[in-house]
Amino acid sequence: MPRGASPSSFLPSLQGLRHEQGPLHRQLYERLREAILTGGLPPRGRLPSTRALAERLGLSRNTVEQAFAQLDAEGLLERRVGSGSVVALPERARPPHGATRVASRRPVPPPVLKGRARRVSELLLPEQPADLLPLTPCMPALEAFPLSLWRRSLQRQGRSQGARLLAYGDEAGWRPLREAVASYVAASRGVRCGWRQVLIVSSTQQALDLVARLLLEDGDAVWLEEPGYLGARAVFSWAGARLIPVPVDDEGLCVEHGVSRAPDARLAYVTPSYQYPLGLTMSLPRRLALLDWARRAGAWVVEDDYDSEFRYTSRPLSAMQGLDDAGRVLYVGTFNKVMFPSLRLAYLVLPEALVEPFRRAKALTDGHTAPLTQAAMADFMERGHFTAHVRRMRGLYAERREALLEGLRRLASERLRPVGSADAGMHVSVTLAGREDDVALVARAARRGLDPRPLSIHYLGPRRTRGLVLGFSGVETAALRTAVAALASVR
Ligand SMILES: Cc1ncc(COP(=O)(O)O)c(C=O)c1O
Repeated sequence: MPRGASPSSFLPSLQGLRHEQGPLHRQLYERLREAILTGGLPPRGRLPSTRALAERLGLSRNTVEQAFAQLDAEGLLERRVGSGSVVALPERARPPHGATRVASRRPVPPPVLKGRARRVSELLLPEQPADLLPLTPCMPALEAFPLSLWRRSLQRQGRSQGARLLAYGDEAGWRPLREAVASYVAASRGVRCGWRQVLIVSSTQQALDLVARLLLEDGDAVWLEEPGYLGARAVFSWAGARLIPVPVDDEGLCVEHGVSRAPDARLAYVTPSYQYPLGLTMSLPRRLALLDWARRAGAWVVEDDYDSEFRYTSRPLSAMQGLDDAGRVLYVGTFNKVMFPSLRLAYLVLPEALVEPFRRAKALTDGHTAPLTQAAMADFMERGHFTAHVRRMRGLYAERREALLEGLRRLASERLRPVGSADAGMHVSVTLAGREDDVALVARAARRGLDPRPLSIHYLGPRRTRGLVLGFSGVETAALRTAVAALASVR
């Protein structure tokens, strides 16, 4: 319709509103709105009364009234009692909320996403189910968590700290928690640090994200264990790093292989206590070789000690951080597995030189982690509840682990073979005999309500072992036995 035409010459185009296309008042409103915004209905043009327009279009008066009321509310129409409605002047008839003018009804193409926005949808992320399912890797025994003790820690801290907990907190973390973490990792893992080197974060994932933002430039090479943890792979890839898969054998990361492929890498990410997903412990010579390379290359080593609390018979090797004299290791631990996943509390133990840059990066990206949760966690630790909980879970998980292994031996020994030598962790990986496809097998198991993960997706390169990653910690022993039997029968 040409600009400036009279309203009455425009009205025929309002015919033909149909119920199938949604509420009639909405359709009428949209057509009038578009006509006003594109100049089809000129400013100051007078519209028929609602009664006359309703008759003309064969609509109820109420329908027309609703459409006019909406246009009036948006400033597109001026309504005057007794003298009808006129199209508002352009300065008033601006679309609400600063929206731009509607030029036509043509569908708007979706925006083209580039760089990080595009890459994020291409990454394989670790999946965490909202429900508790049998065989989910690394899920704690939530039914055995001492909720009433935790509630008391929250209440006690809420009461004693009062309004202090409601203000902004220290970016690096709640001091009593930083102190409690420093003494805990020193005693249990041989980590050498002062409390100022401890940065409280919400998860291992956040720790890795901060590492990527601060220590990596676009195109920097990063050694990753092959196979390895998807959360680390995704975050470093997202940051634009060049990922170098370094194979893992019985002794852990093959350092020599890494040196031959990318001697100048900026960073190596490792899970030395209980390699994820294969469940091996990195030997002392390999740890020393990795530290030696890092020192000579000026590279960083990220030691992810995500479930080192759970060692069932043998004594764990101390953390690599305690062997590092050159300040190249960043040690990461998490409470989200030992306590419960929605807690969102983890920590980074940093070399001195990195403390201030990391504190600033945490401030910039997230402010700080919630003080009440941190204060409650410190309280829980100081009162000995945390160590008692770990001790209890160790007993429980040892029993569940044995139930899983026993079930596999009895029901699927030919088909599903456990790998990894360490009697530790919250999961066991098994390899599949023959040429069975693990991704398809996992999809079939999911239909039976089971949640194992395919081993092959944890590889970056083309040589992939097929298998399953099986969690044993999250469900009770009887349910776990049933789950193993169900898994063994999935074909
Ligand atoms: C190797 C590894 N690191 C870290 C995590 C997760 O820790 P968070 O929940 O603190 O990010 C997991 C979870 O399964 C893991 O397997």
